[in-house]
Amino acid sequence: MKRTTSFFAMILAPALLLSGCGQGRQAPTVRVGVALYDQSDTFISTVTQQLEQLFQEEEQLRGIKINVSLADGRSSQSVQNEQVDRFLDQGYDIICVNIVDRTAAAVIVDKAQGAQVPVIFFNREPVEEDLRRWEGAYYVGSKADRAGILQGQLVLDAWREDPARLDRSGDGVLQYVMLEGEAGHQDTLLRTEYSIQTLTAGGLSSEKLQSATANWQRGQASARMTQWLEQLGGAIEAVFANNDDMALGAIDACLAAGMTAEELPFIVGVDATPPALEAVAAGTLKGTVRNDAAGQARSIVDLSCALLDGQSASSAVTLEDGKYVWLAYTAVTAENLEQFRQAQ
Ligand code: BGC
Repeated sequence: MKRTTSFFAMILAPALLLSGCGQGRQAPTVRVGVALYDQSDTFISTVTQQLEQLFQEEEQLRGIKINVSLADGRSSQSVQNEQVDRFLDQGYDIICVNIVDRTAAAVIVDKAQGAQVPVIFFNREPVEEDLRRWEGAYYVGSKADRAGILQGQLVLDAWREDPARLDRSGDGVLQYVMLEGEAGHQDTLLRTEYSIQTLTAGGLSSEKLQSATANWQRGQASARMTQWLEQLGGAIEAVFANNDDMALGAIDACLAAGMTAEELPFIVGVDATPPALEAVAAGTLKGTVRNDAAGQARSIVDLSCALLDGQSASSAVTLEDGKYVWLAYTAVTAENLEQFRQAQ
C-alpha cells in the first residue's frame, strides 16, 4: 500500500505538467530517458525514430516540453547501468529501457523503484521474475514464438503451392540453413524453434545443413553465408534468418557468389524493415514477418503519458498480466507488400 501511494505521489508532479497545468507560466518540461542496447541496430533505430516523433507530437498536442534523451549502451550492460543511473540521478520522469542483457533487469527495476520512476522495457524481454519486482515496471514487445510460426508458415505455404520451387534436390525434404540472432535473446531462441516446428507440424520434413549466430547483423550473416555456399553450394534450399538484416546479408552473399535472383535459395526474414520490403519487391527476399516498430513506439508513448498523467497503465494500453503490452506480428509477401510499403 505504501509503495502504491508513493508511486503515484511521485508522478503527481509530472502529471500536473503533462495535463497542461502550469500553462501561462514557462512551458513545463518532462524528461524521458531512453537507454538502447545498441543504437546502430536497424530495427532499434526504427523504433527510436518513431519514439522521438511521437513524443514530439505529444509535446505539441499538450503544449509542454518533452525532452527525450537517448543513451547508446553499445552492447555493454555495465555501460547501460551507468546510463540508467545518470537518468535517475538527474531526475528523469520516466525511463524506457532496451536492455542489453535480458537476465540483468533486476538491478534496473530496483533502482527505478528506489527513485519511484516508472520503467518501460521494450524489445528485449526481461525475465518475468525481475519485471514482477515492482509494479512500476512494464514490458512492450511482440511474442517471439509468433514470428517463428509465421515465418515457418510462409515457407510451408510456398512448399505446398509449388514444392519444386523449393525442393531443388527433389528428395521431398527441405534442406535449410539458419542464421540466428544474438545468443540468449528471446527472439533468437523462439523464432529458431518455432519456424522449424511449424514445418514439422505441417508435415514437411526438413534437414538443417548449418546454423550459426550472426548477431542480427548483415555483415556477419553475409560472411557466414559465403562460407556455407563454398561448403554446400546449391544444396541450400532455404535460409531462415531470425531478422531481415541477416536475410539481406544472405542475399548479398548469394549475389556476390554470382547467383542470379532466380537461383537464390528461398530466403525469409523478420522485421519488415524498409530495405527488406524493397528486397521482397525485387523478389530476392521471399517473405518477412512485420515486427511492429511503429506500434511498439506508440504503446511506449501512450503508456508513458498515462503514467505521467497519474492514470493507470490499462487506461492507455491493453495490458496482459498487469505488465505486458503485446503487439502482433504480420506475415509479409509479394502479395500483400503494398500495404506495408505505403504505411512507411
Ligand atoms: C529484431 C532484430 C533486432 C533485435 C534487437 C529483434 O526483435 O527482430 O532485428 O536486432 O530485436 O534486440
